[in-house]
Amino acid sequence: MFERLEALPADSLLGLIALFREDSNPQKVDLGVGVYRDEAGHTAIMSAIQKASREHMETEDSKTYIGPVGVVGFVEGIKKLVLGEQSSAIQQGHLAAIQTPGGCGALRVGSELIRRLGDELTVWVSDPTWANHVPLIQSAGLPIQSYPYFDASTGMVNFEAMDEQLAKLGPNDVVLLHGCCHNPTGADLSFEHWQRIAERANKQGFIPYVDIAYQGLGDGLEEDVKGVRYLSENIQEMVIATSCSKNFGLYRERTGALMIQTKSATEAAAIQTQIQDVARANYSMSPAYGGHLVDKVLHNDELRREWQDELNAMATRVKSLRAGLLEEINKRDIAKDFSFITQQKGMFTYLGITPEQVSELRRDYSIYMADSSRINVAGLNTQCLGYVADALKKVCG
Ligand SMILES: Cc1ncc(COP(=O)(O)O)c(C=O)c1O
Repeated sequence: MFERLEALPADSLLGLIALFREDSNPQKVDLGVGVYRDEAGHTAIMSAIQKASREHMETEDSKTYIGPVGVVGFVEGIKKLVLGEQSSAIQQGHLAAIQTPGGCGALRVGSELIRRLGDELTVWVSDPTWANHVPLIQSAGLPIQSYPYFDASTGMVNFEAMDEQLAKLGPNDVVLLHGCCHNPTGADLSFEHWQRIAERANKQGFIPYVDIAYQGLGDGLEEDVKGVRYLSENIQEMVIATSCSKNFGLYRERTGALMIQTKSATEAAAIQTQIQDVARANYSMSPAYGGHLVDKVLHNDELRREWQDELNAMATRVKSLRAGLLEEINKRDIAKDFSFITQQKGMFTYLGITPEQVSELRRDYSIYMADSSRINVAGLNTQCLGYVADALKKVCG
């Protein structure tokens, strides 16, 4: 029977990893895969997470199932991390929430919940968006459309075009927004944009669906969620998917959370049973380990401070790599304007070069990036900035 199915084409980013590994050029640079890297190219375990892990190993005395919510302290901590201690939704009990297997798990459960709301709903994603949004949403049975977002000529958000599309949406629409550090472009909404979106959502009746996978890796833990918090305080209903993969470095531990903000505590209680039911039908319950670690880090002053310091250092490193790359580019008087590099946020930047130029960089200079020309800025290091700028000069003229 299995002959009915054919092999699928290889994932292009995973293919890039293999090509990079086989490349013997000592100057090779991997800007493809979207994980944080330090100056040595290593994705280290964060020190606060290491400490929490040791403590957890010593104190955990059972591996029996946890409840359907996941690690309760984790879920409570993440709600406050994203929405703030003073959040009205938290204080009024308007939030349903569960721990999920990573941000992907949150997006999948969130999408299935949205699917349960009716047959007519459409999810709108930014053009472009993170490639995995499409299968995660579509496999929940939801149709996808895209709204204009990125302005390739400026490297920033074309909010006018986006807003024009939002103005046409209504109560059967769900709008997926990147909470901060837009993947793949690095072009983020300004606070004023978030205010306009809240206004639109209230007027048109669509539901915002915020994916926040990089809190703390842009302008800081609080700054990065100003938009999401504004939405939460100013509209009644929304969906939030969060990930601890990047900001706690827990990638393989599959740690995330889904929050649904509803109009009342009664609705939140009903939705709580629905999201638990979706999870139960998919994977029963989330792995607990990552949740225990984040719970410990968030609820221990010393560990929390250590984690925040390390996260700030990571964000600062990415910013200084952006500045360093632009400085090297400017020294070489390259025809293309790359000044957007320092205005964009988070780990990613769209270089805005052609697929042919991307291939040339790979073939002639062993610089690896996605075909779209998205680069992971954290894949750079201070030693290779000049080399990358030289290659860009050769390729772009
Ligand atoms: C935009 C975005 N959303 C969600 C995720 C979820 O990641 P994970 O499932 O690894 O937590 C990622 C990871 O790369 C991402 O870039």
